[in-house]
Amino acid sequence: MIKPAIFSTRQLFQAARTILDEHFQVDYWKGDKLSRADLLKHVADKDGLVCLLTEKVDEELLSAAPKLRIAATVSVGYDNIDVPACTKHKVVATNTPGVLDDTTADFAWTLLMAVARRLLEGDSWMRSGTWNGWDLDQLVGGDVWGKTLGILGFGRIGRGVARRALGFQMRVLYNDAVRAPADVEKELNAEFVDRDRLFRESDFISLHVPLLPDTRHLISKDNLEKMKRTAFLVNTSRGPVVDEAALAEALENGKIAGAALDVFEHEPKVHPALLTRKDVILTPHMASASLDTRTKMAVMAANNVVALFEGRRPPNALNADALGLK
Ligand code: GLV
Repeated sequence: MIKPAIFSTRQLFQAARTILDEHFQVDYWKGDKLSRADLLKHVADKDGLVCLLTEKVDEELLSAAPKLRIAATVSVGYDNIDVPACTKHKVVATNTPGVLDDTTADFAWTLLMAVARRLLEGDSWMRSGTWNGWDLDQLVGGDVWGKTLGILGFGRIGRGVARRALGFQMRVLYNDAVRAPADVEKELNAEFVDRDRLFRESDFISLHVPLLPDTRHLISKDNLEKMKRTAFLVNTSRGPVVDEAALAEALENGKIAGAALDVFEHEPKVHPALLTRKDVILTPHMASASLDTRTKMAVMAANNVVALFEGRRPPNALNADALGLK
């Protein structure tokens, strides 16, 4: 029997390859950077696609791949996938929710602590060989414990960030399109507030919203103006949630105290005004990057593809109902 043909835009991890290789004929992209032209060329005759958030699955790609039945992104965010277009082309779209929540929440906290306590400035100073010894006012930063943490987006990751705040005796405010059940609010000691109050009262704001029309540039000039001058912003969600030019201006004018960004408006580019600032920490979209978690994500994507070709509903299908999958 001929095995279905899959294009994987990366080599993936061995655990995921083992699953895919058992069921499919897999073309793993071997080159450095996959161009759009190469993506379209390699997917053209394939039955399935395993891709990353950097690859757009849109009308153009779907039209170029008439046999395609599934597009499995190895990411929880799926703003790279035009799900309605997939449905129109009868292509199942899947993502990898759940397995990266705690790893991402850990990293949001890594950034939060690092920016508040000026970790990277301390590290650079030590490496420069110019530190002369302890002094009272060196690298004084903001406290974390006992402060108010505002969480925008209270899904699995946002809740994970709130759970970690319990150990720091923080007050937690959150906003989300949907209010969490009372038992969750109680367990996490989190208070539902409107966005305005969250901006005004938080000492830290951590972003955990998906990228949607309503969340694009949620961190705008106007909202930055509402924040405390001593507040810090942390973004591990999607870059375009922050208006980077407005953020750079707010930092320059002392409207907020600092920012730690793992995602960027125009990845891999960063707004040049942010690059030179000491009150900003920049990391390369790595919040879910633990070996265990990235492996689980790849395995999850592989299992979604296997499920479809075995006639089962892929566990993480985004358009299962629209496609009438049982
Ligand atoms: C990473 O950003 C993801 O969406 O998994």
